[in-house]
Amino acid sequence: MSERMPVLYNKKPCYDIVFTQSFRALWEELDALGCQEKRLCIVTDSKVDELYGEELLGLLEGKCRKAVKHVFPCGEENKTLDTVKDIYKFLIAEGFDRKDMLLALGGGVTGDITGYAAATFLRGIDYVQIPTTLLAQTDSSIGGKTGVDFDGYKNMVGAFKMPRLVYMNLEVLRTLEERQYFAGFAEVMKHGLIKDAVFYEWLIENMYEICERDLDVLQEMMMRSCTVKRLVVEKDPTEQGDRALLNFGHTIGHAIEKAKDFELYHGECVALGAVAAAYISWKRELLTMEEYYEVRDMFVPFYLPISVDNIDPQEILRLTKSDKKMESGNIKFVLLKKIGKAVLDRTVTDEEILAAIEEIYFSEEDVHA
Ligand code: GLY
Repeated sequence: MSERMPVLYNKKPCYDIVFTQSFRALWEELDALGCQEKRLCIVTDSKVDELYGEELLGLLEGKCRKAVKHVFPCGEENKTLDTVKDIYKFLIAEGFDRKDMLLALGGGVTGDITGYAAATFLRGIDYVQIPTTLLAQTDSSIGGKTGVDFDGYKNMVGAFKMPRLVYMNLEVLRTLEERQYFAGFAEVMKHGLIKDAVFYEWLIENMYEICERDLDVLQEMMMRSCTVKRLVVEKDPTEQGDRALLNFGHTIGHAIEKAKDFELYHGECVALGAVAAAYISWKRELLTMEEYYEVRDMFVPFYLPISVDNIDPQEILRLTKSDKKMESGNIKFVLLKKIGKAVLDRTVTDEEILAAIEEIYFSEEDVHA
């Protein structure tokens, strides 16, 4: 059964998130946005293209003014301005104008790149998010953050650009590669931890169904997870305050992602960063010891890492401090005041960060001790 969740921007309805279990209703949704008169360009990566590219193109052909597809090579290493430049060139060659529209079909990289191309091509054209990974469905497709990595820094260049629609076909999650599915789950867990203790408990109670990817449970999970994200981005669309809470687990997580040269998935690094942040929260007596261990161990049944080997803690600290979440020399760190309530803190010291990194660092010596 399809469900619809309107998202406000500046207190006005801006776009809907549609939760559904197939691509069948996509044209109906696009039709309602006046797409018969438009040129539509599906932007997708080489991997997702193989799975859904032709199916989606087939749904559009003959219904709109023109339907085309632009495919770029998959991988975080392609989240660059060069990939965006190729999109511009393709759109120019296909005669796209400001009234036309882009459709981002894929994971977080595709959504961010396509959104950025949409924000900048002809000073802004419309785009729709059709996220196909759990990470993109629960997080990156909502809230209008777009951008690319630049000079080794993640998401360093970008813009806020709201989509016209987020169309989620939850069925795609059932065939997602296992590691990618659980990596995305880290962001779902994050939403419970930072804002909604009842949802966090619900995730634990429904662990079996979530691991088995029961479609109705997935739909409820996504509705609840996206409600957290929606409420945060509606209150603070351009990250002047509360939206930064969504970065829980990302401060140290991004540093590990970079140090490991993207060998670990983003969500896996978020899980590690979340454990580190929960550890600091315990050491500051915001969480009890039991709560800390519960948070840490809750990642395990979802096949997420809670420790990492082959890292240099000093290097992770340096990378953490060079991340763009610094403000006037202080790191904007997200801690847990309690389960279901995150707080922003600018006073976390190097020593605290290092101790947290040591906590999640799994060294050879640990094995032999
Ligand atoms: N992914 C964090 C945010 O949307 O702000």
